[in-house]
Amino acid sequence: MNMHATALADAHLPDEQTSNFARDAIGDLSQHPKRLSPKYFYDATGSELFEAITRLPEYYPTRTELGILRDRGSEIAAIVPKGAALIEFGAGATTKVRLLLEKCAFGAYVPVDISGDFLKAQANALRRDFPGLAIHPVAADFTARFPLPAAIAATPKVGFFPGSTIGNFEPDEACDFLKSAHGILGKGALMIIGADLEKDERVLHDAYNDAAGVTARFNLNVLVRINRELGGNFDLSAFTHRAIYNRKRHRIEMHLISKKQQTVRMLGTSFSFRPGESIHTENSYKYSIDRFAALARGSGWQVRESWTDAKAMFSVHALIAE
Ligand code: AVJ
Repeated sequence: MNMHATALADAHLPDEQTSNFARDAIGDLSQHPKRLSPKYFYDATGSELFEAITRLPEYYPTRTELGILRDRGSEIAAIVPKGAALIEFGAGATTKVRLLLEKCAFGAYVPVDISGDFLKAQANALRRDFPGLAIHPVAADFTARFPLPAAIAATPKVGFFPGSTIGNFEPDEACDFLKSAHGILGKGALMIIGADLEKDERVLHDAYNDAAGVTARFNLNVLVRINRELGGNFDLSAFTHRAIYNRKRHRIEMHLISKKQQTVRMLGTSFSFRPGESIHTENSYKYSIDRFAALARGSGWQVRESWTDAKAMFSVHALIAE
């Protein structure tokens, strides 16, 4: 066994997801500046920490989006065709989708997520509460093209991409995602999509630097995951969380900053860090209504409706595939 295989065997997770993680982590930590993809935040602990973030007083996006979906529920219901299939890109907590399922006349629900186990648990809970709804989970990477279940081939389609997850994408990736969703859902489909808005920088700063330190733990957890799954030896006390607003690029950036000169090993590869050197772990892009509309139009979608809360903190858009 070579070093790589030994470390993977030690980590007890020699599956495809782990080898993708290994390939991406080694590649991304070899870049200048170093980086890691935010998609690796969400192991079991990371998902729990994210749920805790959504309940923080400083983290306004989740409760604000829920408020918009609740307040605009009947307007959304009015544009959803009766019996339509709701296709959710990425399946997290079911709070938001439940709201839509309660208010609109959906006949089918298609949650799409890379984690098959998570999907099954989520689908079972929804089957109990919505016995008349056909649920067809799809285990797939929603950023790539995937086939929809044959059972909804002739059904009108409504995509759902809440949470400002689109904010994790670079502008060109956001455009690619919307084009790909257009291809999957087809002409005439609707898309309900949440996007966080630009606002007072202090409010943004506090949302990603909460007083209780939950966001810091969420950020550092990706190193815990490398240690466990990829046999890494990151010393957590030697890195610190930093989130800053990059005004020019309209995004919050999260970083993990090395407190000292140090060398870290994983899977037989060494990475050395200078004092103050960063691993860039996440971008969270913030949009204006106009910039979001321009992004949608440039990706083959027409804006049917844009809703915000009274303080214009967050936006939800209904798009139509041209
Ligand atoms: C799930 C990507 C929308 O960008 O606000 C929360 C993730 N990162 N706190 C966001 C996140 C730090 C979140 N998204």
